[in-house]
Formats: sequence, C-alpha cells, structure tokens
Amino acid sequence: MPDPRVVIVGATGAVGRVALQVIEERRFPLASLRVCATPRSYGKLLPFRGQDLVVEEANAALFAGCDLAFISASTAASRELGRLAAGEGCVVIDDSSAYRMEPDVPLVVPEINGADVDWHKGILSIPNCSTTPLVMALWPLHRINPVKRITVATYQSVSGTGAAAMAELDAQARDILDGKVPTVETYPHQIAFNVLPQVDAFLESGYTVEEQKMVDETRKIMHAPEIAISATCVRVPVPVSHSEAVHVEFERPMGPGEARALMSDFPGLVVLDDPANSSYPMPVDATGKDDVFVGRIRADASKEGGLAMWVVSDNLRKGAATNAIQIAEEIVKRGAWLRAPL
Ligand SMILES: NC(=O)c1ccc[n+]([C@@H]2O[C@H](COP(=O)([O-])OP(=O)(O)OC[C@H]3O[C@@H](n4cnc5c(N)ncnc54)[C@H](OP(=O)(O)O)[C@@H]3O)[C@@H](O)[C@H]2O)c1
Repeated sequence: MPDPRVVIVGATGAVGRVALQVIEERRFPLASLRVCATPRSYGKLLPFRGQDLVVEEANAALFAGCDLAFISASTAASRELGRLAAGEGCVVIDDSSAYRMEPDVPLVVPEINGADVDWHKGILSIPNCSTTPLVMALWPLHRINPVKRITVATYQSVSGTGAAAMAELDAQARDILDGKVPTVETYPHQIAFNVLPQVDAFLESGYTVEEQKMVDETRKIMHAPEIAISATCVRVPVPVSHSEAVHVEFERPMGPGEARALMSDFPGLVVLDDPANSSYPMPVDATGKDDVFVGRIRADASKEGGLAMWVVSDNLRKGAATNAIQIAEEIVKRGAWLRAPL
C-alpha cells in the first residue's frame, strides 16, 4: 500500500504545530505533507523534517490531491471543509466538535475503540480534550467492572482554547504584575490569577456545552449510553495540560489496589501515586508527553466501593494531536483509508 498524501488544515495553530512535531516524532509514513491555514498565514513557512512547508489555502483542488486530511481549525471551518475534503476522496480526521456526535462518524480513542475506525464513511473525530483523559483513565476499570456513575471536575488549561488564549494569559499576567489593567478578549473575565467556572456557553440545563460534551462523548466512546455523568468544567490559568478530579461508582465494589494494577497495565496510562513523597500528576510534568497520568487513587469516602482519583494529560498531545495521529495509524494499519469519494 502506498504511503498517504496528507494535509493539515490549521497547521499554524496550537494543535496544528504540535501535530507537525508528533508526525515527525512518530515517523508517520508520508508520501507528501501540505499545510493550510487562513489567508493571513498563506506563504508562511513551517519547519518539518529539515525542510520548510509553505502554508496554502485549503480548497477542493488541494483535497483532491490528498488521501488524509487532519482538520484542526475551528468548528465552523470543520463544518465548511470536512464534507468538502471527504467529497474529494480524503479520509478526514477532525479535531472539532462539528461531527463528533453524528451517527456515521466514529469518535475514537485508539486504545479504547480503535476498531470503530472500520465503519467510517470518510470522517472520523477525536474527542474533546477533557473527555480523552477521562475515558483513558476509566476504560481499563470499566471493561472489568462496568462504571455506573461519574462525577468529574476539570481544571482546564488555556491552550485548550487555542494559541490566542495562551498569548492572552501571558499578556494579562505581565500587565497585572506591572500594575496595569489587563485586556480581556478570549474569556468573559480575566484568566490570569483567576479561575473561571465556565468553559463554553451555558445550556438551559445549567450545565455548559463543554460539560455536556464530556457526558455525550464518554458514552459514545465507551459504548455505554447508560453511564450517569455530572461534569463541572473549570478554566484555570495554566498554559498547557488539563487536570481532572474524578469520582466513580462501579457495578461492584473496586478497591484502589485493583484499580492501580489495572491502570498500570494499560497502554498510554501512567500511574504516579506516591502521596507519602508528594508524588502525583501535575500539568508541569505532563506537558510535552503523550501519556495520560493518574494519581491520588483512593477509596471514595462518600460511596462504599467507589473510587476517587486525579488525572492529568497534555491537551495538545493526547487531548488532540497525538490522538488524531494515532487514529491515522490505526486507519493505515487496518487498510481503512483507501476508499471511493462520498
Ligand atoms: N487546543 C486544544 O487543546 C484542542 C483539543 C482538542 C481539540 N481541539 C480542536 O482543534 C481545533 C484547533 O484548535 P487550536 O487550539 O489549535 O486553535 P488555534 O490555536 O486557534 O488554531 C486554529 C488554526 O486553524 C486555522 N484556521 C482557522 N480557521 C480556518 C479556516 N477557515 N481555514 C483554514 N484554516 C483555518 C488557523 O489559521 P491562522 O493561524 O491563519 O489563523 C490556525 O492555524 C479546534 O477545532 C479545537 O476545538 C483543540
């Protein structure tokens, strides 16, 4: 089988730049690689494998010359370009929420439901960067002892909102330390030296869109529509890596020792759990790594047989770019990327 001709749409963004690094690190097989962004970036050069890639316009002609399209731009851009690329014969791996819950679109974390790539119709999605660490931590437990109920509170970094939010956190912190009034653009309030109990818009239910995504996506990936989930998503002034406090109930009691053993054996999951030495996962350590880290695993004092834990993962890597490239590897491995246009 020939190596795929690949395009990254959104290659100048927070996730797109990491995707270029991850493709290089994992030696993803390529016949060619093209990079796209908005008109303001056309002609910019992005270094890749010792050469410079020129940023181009994403259009039908470009997609017609590619086999695989990573779309990592915005939900609006994905809605516009996803079906266009698929229609030109590309297999699309989309990072946005545009297609995640569509019934003909597999939503994939390869360690969990890699086999779902087999039924794609041209578009596959990665989950939200807060869902991926949650399902990575719980899947090795769920497949032994089904999860009944999850309560999760997130501590999400600003890079989850993209490159502009990272620059804004930096600028606000400098302004405040210099005694100036910070400029607020990305979020409803200042994020530097603050914590926002709002990620995305509010729904009538009182939950936010991000919180509802965690519910819907977890059920879809784990093929478990019956799991009860309540999420509180919080933005914190951390540049990269999301953290989550998770409480979980199972069909049968599960102890911390059994959970630690099951998680330690699961690929892509690292247990860092030595409270006596203050050893637990933290964003500063997880950043730049592809693994999901779990610690503070303990019996839930409020529910006999339940567990509490702390999960941390680099949202730009396993939460986005790495998971997308792992899906592509799964597609190549299964020969599922050669197909006729829609
Ligand atoms: N950040 C995360 O942790 C994370 C995790 C999971 C999923 N995602 C999803 O991944 C996508 C990218 O997120 P990000 O954080 O990388 O955002 P970002 O830093 O704002 O980057 C957006 C990228 O998309 C490009 N772009 C925007 N509209 C476009 C269009 N119509 N046509 C072509 N290119 C376009 C931008 O180009 P310019 O540079 O020219 O503006 C830039 O390269 C989003 O859908 C996001 O929801 C992000």
